[in-house]
Amino acid sequence: MLEQTKYQKLFSTPLIRFRVPDCAVLNAALLMESEQMRAENSGVSKSNRGGWHSEGNLFESDAPSIQRIRNAAQDAVLEITRKVSSKVDPESLDMKLFAWMNTNPRGGYNAPHTHPGAHWSGVYYVSQPDVEDGSSGMIEFLDPRSAMPHWRILEASSFREKLTFRPSVGELIVFPSYLMHWVHPNHTDAERVTIAFNATFRRPK
Ligand SMILES: [Fe+2]
Repeated sequence: MLEQTKYQKLFSTPLIRFRVPDCAVLNAALLMESEQMRAENSGVSKSNRGGWHSEGNLFESDAPSIQRIRNAAQDAVLEITRKVSSKVDPESLDMKLFAWMNTNPRGGYNAPHTHPGAHWSGVYYVSQPDVEDGSSGMIEFLDPRSAMPHWRILEASSFREKLTFRPSVGELIVFPSYLMHWVHPNHTDAERVTIAFNATFRRPK
């Protein structure tokens, strides 16, 4: 017989998903903010292909709808940090949040990328293509380790090479900024509108 002395999950990659309850009014207010911002500036080009990407730090806006997402992002980042860290209380650190808004119209997508320099990245879904089939609105995460196709036979979720899903409107997801991800092309006429953010911790001075 064997006596188990330890079981560890090495190099696992956390991903957390939340739902903002009763988000319809909030999302309508965010869409109005987005339209106003788009009318005022033409945006910047980052990993987005087609569509619009707001300029500067969105969380500096004092619009109540944006501040609600800022608070939700902060709570979500604290929660996932508590889940992975037993030694540091994240509330004892300074957290810097930087956010922007993305819209993907028909044909728009985001090429594979990471968010270097940050600890956590997240996305809040304001509007999504309302489809059940196809890949519109889907985000895909790629295994940061080298490819291990021979593990497929075990059908173990910890050893999958990628994870693809379509978050619902009102969902907020957070993942490590080193994790490679991309957004599938939108094949519908309904815009995908998201608020993305980076969170970076620093020791207080
Ligand atoms: Fe991203």
